[in-house]
Amino acid sequence: MDRIPILKFGHALLVTIQVDMHDRLATALEEDLTARIVTHNARGVLIDISALEVVDSFIGRMLDNIAAVSRILDADTVVVGMRPAVAITLVELGLSLTGVKTALNVERGMAMIHDRLAGRRLTMPTTKTERVGIKVSDDVVRVRQLTRALAVEVGLSLVDQTKIVTASSELARNTLDYGGGGEVTAEIVEQGGRRGVRLTFDDKGPGIADIEQALKDGFTSGKGMGLGLGGSKRLCNEFSIVSAPGTGTKVTIARWK
Ligand SMILES: Nc1ncnc2c1ncn2[C@@H]1O[C@H](COP(=O)(O)OP(=O)(O)O)[C@@H](O)[C@H]1O
Ligand SMILES: [Mg+2]
Repeated sequence: MDRIPILKFGHALLVTIQVDMHDRLATALEEDLTARIVTHNARGVLIDISALEVVDSFIGRMLDNIAAVSRILDADTVVVGMRPAVAITLVELGLSLTGVKTALNVERGMAMIHDRLAGRRLTMPTTKTERVGIKVSDDVVRVRQLTRALAVEVGLSLVDQTKIVTASSELARNTLDYGGGGEVTAEIVEQGGRRGVRLTFDDKGPGIADIEQALKDGFTSGKGMGLGLGGSKRLCNEFSIVSAPGTGTKVTIARWK
């Protein structure tokens, strides 16, 4: 089967689309890119479409799909070299390509990815302990951002970053939904020369009477999927839960480099 080559280019992956895309080629490209983003720890995907004279809704959707998957893996997608006529036609066709950034050429696209990396370094927390109150649903987003920043600072791989960020999101949501709000303490920890990120979620809510049951996949007392606690345990190297009815709940997770 034909495949579109993917080149590694600094922190980014470069794909040059030259041939007429068809379904199988597009699906293969999406799969290949997902795998390569993870194995190369790529922070960006550059898709060069300068050879394309026409971008129809099929290609548009492929670009959107790639951008969506990349975003989950914390990589930016930049489409480069779009011809002016193509850009105008896309707008009139009604394709907004919301998740996709565009740049004039590959150099500018690379510069965009580097700018983002540099910006991230600057916003990294300098303190080793941070607290975030979890009172409203926006706080869950802040918990994810803080966890990501600490995971990057420690040097966790992209996959491990994603694991602890996902776990942090689940636990912050539980603190909010079931614990009636609380806070998280996020720390960079060191042990025997290893560094890691440790998060402690604390609430003074109703507590959990049967912890074993709460940990079972599929168990929910609300409308959830019942995967938060069990999933977080699997996603981390350390997991502990202290909870009793009436006193509240404390869940601690850690992911080590
Ligand atoms: N902080 C908490 N305070 C009280 N109960 C909790 C807390 N976190 C989790 N639980 C209980 O554990 C159950 C399982 O949680 P979870 O695995 O995240 O699934 P879900 O959030 O989908 O219900 C919840 O339905 C709830 O009953
Ligand atoms: Mg949950």
